[in-house]
Amino acid sequence: MATQGHDWLTGSASIESFLRVKELEEQQRALLKSAICAFNQLLDLRDLNTGVHSTRLAEWAVRVARKLQIEEADFYQIEVAALLHDIGKIGVPDTILKKDGKLTGEERALMNKHPEYSWSILRLFSGLDKASLYALHHHESYDGKGYPGGLKGEEIPIGSRIVSVIDAYDAMISNRCYRKGLPHDEAVRRLSESSGIQFDPLVVKAFIEIAGQEIEDVFAATGSSPAAVI
Ligand SMILES: [Fe+2]
Repeated sequence: MATQGHDWLTGSASIESFLRVKELEEQQRALLKSAICAFNQLLDLRDLNTGVHSTRLAEWAVRVARKLQIEEADFYQIEVAALLHDIGKIGVPDTILKKDGKLTGEERALMNKHPEYSWSILRLFSGLDKASLYALHHHESYDGKGYPGGLKGEEIPIGSRIVSVIDAYDAMISNRCYRKGLPHDEAVRRLSESSGIQFDPLVVKAFIEIAGQEIEDVFAATGSSPAAVI
């Protein structure tokens, strides 16, 4: 009987510690989620999110990942990278970030440091190891002519290849003070033109299918112009 009692107590204690661990994990997840939202807000405040629809773009990144049959465990990392890959721009002076004209060589070199800065920030969060790596390589080019690593083709992490396409699309369709954003169709044409050169062709194909379908659906439902629904 004494042994049974002891087992019962041990069992009760292990259930308690199991529940406590679950609770702590839940708290950690919630804290990480808040930190990600806060960083995104910071990008908005510093006017560093190129588009105002970063959440939609992050959703599309996940849908591209799903279409490419990437491991589900990676979806969250890709979503975070899609949202926060440019967080390192906080370390680039405004005189460079907001310069209207062409950047000098020195300014360009500083600007091109931002993926490394993003990596150095995101890697500090436990649980964002892959997202930080995806951010580090989001300006690599499929033909090896990108930065910071000059990685080529599938050497570039898949999350970075996805973010690269999403980022380029976002930059093209977004309005700037010195130019109006491109319409969806023109942005898609330019993505296709650079498919296999700057971008992974499979990612471009998946993205175009997803974005095109969604825009058509919203256009049909609202009667608004495709450019206005992005
Ligand atoms: Fe970037």
